[in-house]
Amino acid sequence: MTRNSHPQPITAKEQARAKRETRQVLKGFGKKRPNLIPILQAVQRRLGFLPREAMTEIAAFLGIPPVDVYEVVTFYNQFRLNPPGKHSIRVCLGTACHMKGGYITLDAWERRLSIHQGQTTPDREFDLDTVACVGCCTMAPVTVVDEKPEAKVEPTKVDGLLLAFQREKKNKDTKKS
Ligand code: FES
Repeated sequence: MTRNSHPQPITAKEQARAKRETRQVLKGFGKKRPNLIPILQAVQRRLGFLPREAMTEIAAFLGIPPVDVYEVVTFYNQFRLNPPGKHSIRVCLGTACHMKGGYITLDAWERRLSIHQGQTTPDREFDLDTVACVGCCTMAPVTVVDEKPEAKVEPTKVDGLLLAFQREKKNKDTKKS
């Protein structure tokens, strides 16, 4: 719903990949400004998000200032500035969830994950954002975790959900070794 308008830093390897893949995508388009949104959609399909490097390539290709591209990306909710995490956390801030402390829930996720909404943890495990009503208001405050609505997500439940993820990760790592 609301998006963070600041791209997080990405690694040199990710930057190089973003440039390379964006150039590939651009080969399929004409250098016309009306192509901006279809280009952004195609690059995001390829990369999963739209890093600064991709936006700069697109701006140069279309002969427009990078800030024009950035404005379009931050205007539309369909575009992501930061890479997707393995797990998506969506805190509902619709009216019912807001009334039941949705912002307290959001604050708990932000603190526990040490990121803000619209961002992704540096290990790329979690991305955090907010959504409008997801249609299960009786369960407020709701957080949608990997597409599954979780009921009554107060700060202690945030801790419980994160603990479950940690256990699951530990089990997987043990099986691998
Ligand atoms: S307001 Fe959150 S589910 Fe409806």
